[in-house]
Amino acid sequence: MGYEYILVEKEGAVGTVTLNRPKVLNALNPALMKELAEALEAFDADPELRVIILTGGEEHFAAGADIKEMVQRDAVQMLQGVHGNTWRRIGRITKPLIAAVSGYALGGGCELAMICDILIASESAKFGQPEIKLGIIPGAGGTQRLPRAIGKYRAMEMVLLGNFIDAAQAERWGLVNRVVPKGQVVAEAKKMASELAKRPPLAVKMGKQAILQGLNVDLETGLALESHCFTLLFATEDKSEGMNAFLEKREAQFKGR
Ligand code: CAA
Repeated sequence: MGYEYILVEKEGAVGTVTLNRPKVLNALNPALMKELAEALEAFDADPELRVIILTGGEEHFAAGADIKEMVQRDAVQMLQGVHGNTWRRIGRITKPLIAAVSGYALGGGCELAMICDILIASESAKFGQPEIKLGIIPGAGGTQRLPRAIGKYRAMEMVLLGNFIDAAQAERWGLVNRVVPKGQVVAEAKKMASELAKRPPLAVKMGKQAILQGLNVDLETGLALESHCFTLLFATEDKSEGMNAFLEKREAQFKGR
């Protein structure tokens, strides 16, 4: 399928979506967001794929929602628009999403990186929620996912002051899994993706679900949810394969069944 604002690539079990509006630092206009939701849903439904990488390439991840487009919008249009819907669609992807972030990840760009499950940053990465400087606040999860990731006080600083943090600080604050030299972020994400692709897909899916849903509930509910996911996996062929492979001292071949 041809897209205007993104590039898609399949290599074995790994699908990669690259945001592609370099002249505006991959600013996220509604058309791009619609294409992104469509591409991610198609990858999520593709039985050949086990992991999805989301990147802006080696220069910039995304400098946020497209301000030239947003300046024209009023509240009624925002309520009528696709804005919330595409973000919700992306938040429902069930396969693991690895963000490969270089350069700016600002506003909606930072929020898009945070929707992902694993975040790899280039040394050049700069994260920020600068919406406050535009007279608004983050509108795609920033005020919710940021405090869950880095804690209340750091999130307050980022959201209320709107300043950027560099990759080293993002790593210290626990916003990223690891930082790699500039130019290597996509390669590092692909390396991790191919390792992740060898893991049993249903267990990976359950692990993602248990962590994400568990973040929103009390501990007892979260433990009950985990227990259901754990028990369900005992019905899979991959559970037998994984345990027998261990006992037979061979590498497991998982099929996602
Ligand atoms: N929307 C539209 N265009 C953008 C953009 C954005 N978010 N970010 C950058 N651009 C465009 C610039 O207008 C410029 O285009 P022209 O060449 O046509 O003028 C081009 O990209 C290059 O940008 P700069 O010349 O500004 O580059 P710089 O290196 O001097 O600065 C920057 C880079 C610090 C990222 C600066 O561009 C910037 O501050 N951008 C806006 C960041 C921002 O406020 N993002 C939050 C948006 S709101 C949001 O995301 C809401 C939400 O929660 C969903």
